Amino acid sequence: MNQADSEIITALLQHDGYVPAESEEKAGIILLNTCAVRENAVERIKHYFQHVKGLKKRQKGLILGVAGCIPQFYREQLFSSAPVVDFLVGTDAYRTIPFLIESARSGQRDASLEFNPAEMYDGIDPVRKGAISAYVPVMRGCNNMCAYCVVPFTRGRERSHAVSSILEEVRLLAASGYREITLIGQNVNSYCAPEDGLDFAGLLNVVSREAPQMRVRFTTSHPKDFSEALVHTIANHPNICNHIHLPVQSGSSRVLALMNRGHTIDEYREKIALIRSIIPGVSISTDIIAGFCGEREEDHHLTLELLSDLRFDSAYMFFYSTRPGTLASRTLEDDVAEEVKKRRLQEIIDVQNSISCELFQQSIGSVVEVLAESESRRSVQQLMGRTDTNRTVVFEREGYHPGDFLNVLITAATSATLIGRSVNGSLALG
Ligand code: 5AD
Ligand code: SF4
Repeated sequence: MNQADSEIITALLQHDGYVPAESEEKAGIILLNTCAVRENAVERIKHYFQHVKGLKKRQKGLILGVAGCIPQFYREQLFSSAPVVDFLVGTDAYRTIPFLIESARSGQRDASLEFNPAEMYDGIDPVRKGAISAYVPVMRGCNNMCAYCVVPFTRGRERSHAVSSILEEVRLLAASGYREITLIGQNVNSYCAPEDGLDFAGLLNVVSREAPQMRVRFTTSHPKDFSEALVHTIANHPNICNHIHLPVQSGSSRVLALMNRGHTIDEYREKIALIRSIIPGVSISTDIIAGFCGEREEDHHLTLELLSDLRFDSAYMFFYSTRPGTLASRTLEDDVAEEVKKRRLQEIIDVQNSISCELFQQSIGSVVEVLAESESRRSVQQLMGRTDTNRTVVFEREGYHPGDFLNVLITAATSATLIGRSVNGSLALG
């Protein structure tokens, strides 16, 4: 979501005549787009402020703006804690950035932090970095109030983009040669079209029909709202990728209740079973938080057990950090010691990594369809792409280019990457 917001901010700035600087040293304005979801993101920003302090000594008139979730949450307090900051802009106020820059030039420190539920950034054509894969925001905000999560306080109430504007964007992307779109929102399953109440399954259906030559992905889903209709929609459309990111957060129903997730672990397991029965070969990834308030050793073991049972393709794993203002920070005690959180997290990572490794090894010898995305980091002779199940594949270039679909025979695997070579020619999707 932050990347999509940065693409909107870039469009707004370019519209006002600003151009990207070649380097930090040559920049007149540095604009940080920030995330507040975990404490370490906030820590990183503080380090960066120190760095900009050094730059400001050498670059006269350099302006530092901070955008997104951190200023939305910490508000004007940031001005006093970080004198290096010249202006602040919240998640619904990016259109004011040109005015904030002008103010900063005249020596004023302004903040634009109002929530504006009507702001969908419609009519702005995002300036995207790549030319193959594009994010398409379909909704903004979140009404869920998971106890650990700061998002409802930094991105405000849920609201959805019109189907007509989403389809228009998809058509433009297809015409510009994009090969993949990812529909994004904090909780895409809560999508509700302003025109006629169309739900997310319905939206995915019409988007996939609109762009049959493109891969369609979506993120993020909430287990309690993931409907059977949505599972069928994914199964019925060959261009909707067979990958679902379904954060579970904990393997213990007791902890899920403390987290205010709105479902039990049995319900989650049933949902996974349903998905796997309707979409053969689907890959499922998840998010886990270790050491949430009140988590006991037996809850942690339930998480390890869940990972072993469900065998996720991959997982994003974090230890819990209290976020000020959240339900948990107001009503629960952060009572798991830091070393215990870190030890539990490491155990979770070890179990998941060995599962990912096994799953990747099992795919050696299979042929997978890959969308080539870029040159591999190691060699210009190799390309990097992804399977529709979202696995990264590195393969010999052999005349292929980013944007090509091709079949790749998997010949080796590391814990996070498949390695292979192309077999028979380029493919048409679907
Ligand atoms: N501490 C640790 N992890 C968190 N996440 C969200 N809030 C916190 C927090 N306070 C994780 C969740 C979520 C992902 C985006 O970040 O796993 O799914
Ligand atoms: Fe945060 Fe929960 Fe909303 Fe996800 S669904 S953004 S974890 S409150």
